[in-house]
Amino acid sequence: MTERKARVAVLVSGGGTNLQALLDAQAAGVIRHGEIALVIANKQDAYALRRAEAANVPARVVLRKALGSQQAFEEAIARALDDEGIDLIVLAGFMAILSQWFTDRYSGRVINVHPSLIPSFCGEGYYGLRVHQAALARGVKVTGATVHFVNEVPDGGPIILQKAVRVYPGDTPEKLQLRVMKQAEWKILPAAVEMLSKQMAAQKGA
Ligand code: GRF
Repeated sequence: MTERKARVAVLVSGGGTNLQALLDAQAAGVIRHGEIALVIANKQDAYALRRAEAANVPARVVLRKALGSQQAFEEAIARALDDEGIDLIVLAGFMAILSQWFTDRYSGRVINVHPSLIPSFCGEGYYGLRVHQAALARGVKVTGATVHFVNEVPDGGPIILQKAVRVYPGDTPEKLQLRVMKQAEWKILPAAVEMLSKQMAAQKGA
């Protein structure tokens, strides 16, 4: 009996390199028990949308400003997810806030990739390059990336996977960010998606 796959949605805001890593992992058979069925962007011009288009993945843009309130914004995202029968929600470079209404509604089904070894350099104000600036300012010799479940606390949910990355003398935030993406984020996010998709697909098949 062909096991049904978990339906995966990827929420994006910018370049979409983590989305690309997921698409490449799906194409390479690394992600076998999940199918990337929907991309949702909260920015009209997110390059991640071009990546979804190139991979023929349906995409929607949900704009907080146009919808007028955080609740309307989150309800619009929820409607898109529910319309598409999504099982697993992946925040990949997604920069919008999601309230406890959302994280409770999809409890245990939302994961995020953060570019540090949580609990270091995470929480309010730690995102994108700022994470790497803080790691360099602190002088850590090792940093990395974390995939974790999303709850109401920024970067506070249970940790799923982590991968360490060396920091080298002379590293700039940009150089470190790229190394953390290449050596950690783009590896552990697909691995986590496959692991959770396998669990969810088995439940669907049961
Ligand atoms: C990455 O560093 C990711 O960890 C962070 O946002 C940055 C850009 O992600 N959350 P992407 O290239 O848009 O996937």
